[in-house]
Amino acid sequence: LERTYVMIKPDGVQRNLIGPIVSRFEQKGFKLVAGKLVTLSKETAETHYGEHREKPFFNELVTFITSGPVFAMVWEGEQAVKISRHLIGATNPAEATPGSIRGDYAIQVGMNVIHGSDSTESADREIGIFFSEEELSTYEKNTNVWV
Ligand code: GTP
Ligand code: MG
Repeated sequence: LERTYVMIKPDGVQRNLIGPIVSRFEQKGFKLVAGKLVTLSKETAETHYGEHREKPFFNELVTFITSGPVFAMVWEGEQAVKISRHLIGATNPAEATPGSIRGDYAIQVGMNVIHGSDSTESADREIGIFFSEEELSTYEKNTNVWV
């Protein structure tokens, strides 16, 4: 079983999308392992988005992601990384398929509502940035046999 780091960005929190987005992951069949509302420091934001340090939009990205609380989550399930990216949709919401989260809820690439890890290596790294081992719940759901 795989775990992935998913984060509802400040625009998604402000626009009351925590509930609908959590609902999509639950309905897909994933299991919530951890979740919390947190405001990122500049340092945490720069660490999380370290791969984009040299990009022209880096400062804008860090300013945006630290502008208000995010809802940080860990979801678990078979192929959780790949399937979550599919649920989330293309980076640019203008190109994201309707039915995906970005396709349904966002317009601009700068404010695209949600983040999801792009590989299992990124997921491990990002989960480690945001959650301690004690915050990750291990439990069984009896719906598992059906998904
Ligand atoms: P994340 O899940 O947030 O990592 O998005 P992604 O993996 O789909 O895209 P990527 O990692 O390439 O980019 C990280 C984030 O940077 C995106 O989600 C956008 O919010 C932002 N971003 C990417 N390209 C641009 C851009 O051209 N302009 C601005 N303002 N932001 C951008
Ligand atoms: Mg990314």
